[in-house]
Amino acid sequence: MNSSRAAYDLRSFAAFLEEHGELVRISKEVERQYELPALLEQLEQQHKAFIFDNIKGASFPLIGGLLNSTTRLGQAIGNDISVPYDHRNHAAAYGAASENPVAHIEVETGPVKDVVITGDDIDLADLPVPTFFELDSGAFITGAVGISQDQSDNRLNMGFYRSLITGKDTLVINASSMSDLRQIYATAEESGVAMPIALAIGVPPALLMAASGKTPPGLSELDLAGGLMGQAVEMVKCETSNLLVPAIAEIVIEGVVDFTNKVENTLGEFAGQYGPETAPTTRVTAITHRKNAMYYSIMAGRNPEHNTIGAISTYGMQRVIAGNLCEQFLNIKDINIACEPKLGAMLHIFISIDKQNDAEPRKLLEAAFAATAGIFPVSMIVKRIVIVDDDIDVYNLEEVEWAIWTRLSTVDKIMTIANVKSWELERCVNENMESARVGIDGTMDMNAVDKLIKPVIPGCENVRLEDYLD
Ligand SMILES: Cc1cc2nc3c(=O)[nH]c(=O)nc-3n(C[C@H](O)[C@H](O)[C@H](O)COP(=O)(O)O)c2cc1C
Repeated sequence: MNSSRAAYDLRSFAAFLEEHGELVRISKEVERQYELPALLEQLEQQHKAFIFDNIKGASFPLIGGLLNSTTRLGQAIGNDISVPYDHRNHAAAYGAASENPVAHIEVETGPVKDVVITGDDIDLADLPVPTFFELDSGAFITGAVGISQDQSDNRLNMGFYRSLITGKDTLVINASSMSDLRQIYATAEESGVAMPIALAIGVPPALLMAASGKTPPGLSELDLAGGLMGQAVEMVKCETSNLLVPAIAEIVIEGVVDFTNKVENTLGEFAGQYGPETAPTTRVTAITHRKNAMYYSIMAGRNPEHNTIGAISTYGMQRVIAGNLCEQFLNIKDINIACEPKLGAMLHIFISIDKQNDAEPRKLLEAAFAATAGIFPVSMIVKRIVIVDDDIDVYNLEEVEWAIWTRLSTVDKIMTIANVKSWELERCVNENMESARVGIDGTMDMNAVDKLIKPVIPGCENVRLEDYLD
């Protein structure tokens, strides 16, 4: 995979996708509540990018679907995609960027300052923010990256935070218990010093990738994005605070957090369930935007773009677990940590081994559930671990399923663990935030190997149908 060209910003990537027939433009007028999400969901399932030019009552078009496949992740950072590109490829690019970050720089001004709106002119209703599902608390901004500064060390922090619009100039920026923002909120609330915050909407795809999860200690998400882009992210100062925001963002919402006004709110989330959250209100102090700005949105609920970007946050965990387990179990062949809409909010780990005896898979299941992945135990966010033989491609869910249902001979190959500490995104937890975990030994029993061999065509990986078609 060679990086033959520079990474794209939002507009150039949209233009590239449109040129290649992968972006759908819709100019018919659309209601932002329910009608728009109904269309977004269909476009997402087709893995199409989209621009809606005419959303009723809004002053901006809506763009999305840019990163709804792993191929797009590679394309967006400038790879020539002539062979399949999956999370393994992207993890390598992400790892290289983490090792070669490019420090962000502050510049005087940038496109995001083309238009500056303050005071009474601020009206969040101008943005085409969808109301996605029946029981949602209202319209949610989903594709913004939130930028805040840790008062304890002045570090700039970036992440995705679903934000509910509650008024003309108020919104609620949600921070999960795992986010650094939750900690930053707590420090600011305790100190009593005003906390500025900003939402940057329509940023270059590399920033979306960097915002998805936790960076290694000491590495700023912005500098990781610089590493992915091969150039420094240019930042400009906000109009109403000293926070820095990406100069090339389409739209920036600046605000100050009001901890006296916390709001419970609900959104249909990527888990495919409603997720109630409580977070402080942010009072909007300015909106700045580019000329002809586009509003970037990620379809809420169980849809590919969220999980494609979200899976990036598992790369660090993948490295730690792989390192940890491969040291103990020398015959591990491959490990996939899957983050898929069809598997819900929790992660699933698939491990292939060159099994030497029937006791091995159980030992491996126990070790894998007991491992830690950075700051938290694997068991906290992993629902199921499946061990398969090394003839199974752990990146192919269909093969893993096939292995389970053809090789699961006895009940003792299923391991269940009760009352495991979970996190709030798993909605079936009990009052102590605990739930069940499942381990499955989907390997062939040693005495049945001859009966359970998978039929393969020798050399088929070197025979490509394309080479035979006129
Ligand atoms: C599309 C998308 C939406 C997300 N929404 C939220 C959210 O509403 N709240 C949250 O805390 N994390 C959310 N996350 C996960 C955060 O990006 C992740 O927790 C990140 O580490 C937060 O950054 P921080 O830890 O630097 O604060 C979302 C991730 C993605 C990919």
